[in-house]
Amino acid sequence: MTIVEDIQAMREIIQDWKHRNSSIGFVPTMGFLHEGHASLIRKARKQNDKVVVSIFVNPTQFGPNEDFENYPRNMENDTQQCDKEEVDLIFAPCTKEMYPDPTYAFVDINQLGNSLCGATRPGHFRGVCTVVNKLFNIVMPDRAYFGEKDAQQLVIIQQMVHDLSIPVQIVPCPIVREKDGLAMSSRNSTLSPQERTAARVLSKSLELANNLMMQGETSASVIRSQMKEKIQLEPLATVEYIEIVDAQTLTPLENVKGDVLIALAVKIGNTRLIDNYRTHLEAI
Ligand code: PAJ
Repeated sequence: MTIVEDIQAMREIIQDWKHRNSSIGFVPTMGFLHEGHASLIRKARKQNDKVVVSIFVNPTQFGPNEDFENYPRNMENDTQQCDKEEVDLIFAPCTKEMYPDPTYAFVDINQLGNSLCGATRPGHFRGVCTVVNKLFNIVMPDRAYFGEKDAQQLVIIQQMVHDLSIPVQIVPCPIVREKDGLAMSSRNSTLSPQERTAARVLSKSLELANNLMMQGETSASVIRSQMKEKIQLEPLATVEYIEIVDAQTLTPLENVKGDVLIALAVKIGNTRLIDNYRTHLEAI
């Protein structure tokens, strides 16, 4: 496995692979890899000749008061994980390599990036789109793998690839969870034992929503308020948002029908966690 830090060296390797007609699967990450990331890497490994994982904590997707500095990092463990999963190449650039000073060009996604996580994290998806676009231009993958854990990010990347005619196939991958239902996340490592227990409330509230829908509840506001009540019973949890939206357009739904995405962000202590549940409901 090769570890590459600069763009020029990447270009030479990628050119060589392209000359050999090797297909390239790409998994962009911010590192501190866990089983969620590993599931994307395994899928990429099955479907491509070469697998590239990028590890880059992207400063432009963090707001001024967010956890960029404290975002967990462990390059040694990440390298071991990638080696174990038979990754061919890790691309791990430094910030200067990705963002030469000054940088003027950014990729914007407009209203798709303003709702849900974008409402409380202005500029977040602009940062995500910019870095993913740059990474695509460097890695030039045939397929790129994204987790459904970040549902809004997935929708936005699919839209960006469509709108900007980027020649890559986006492959969605299901959410990987801990035994008790908590969606795996690099940020889970920052939870204290009490917070870790409290964090179960995210997936439990999505279970409640699913049960309500199975019992025939169609009102999005009833489902949301029941979810909110459940989360508020947990003293360490603060709801940032609970939204019930159309899974493709991300516009809020009054009644659950069609492709429905229930997405939430909850702070457990100081750690912001997200989760979601996607389903298809026929109109009654
Ligand atoms: P990161 O949070 O490291 O996630 C990298 C990829 O792993 C994303 O596609 C994410 O959806 C997926 N992932 C994380 N946890 C998962 C889980 N429990 N189950 C399934 N997939 C999971 O998302 C980012 O980094 C960044 O925004 C990035 C796209 C790399 C741009 O900087």
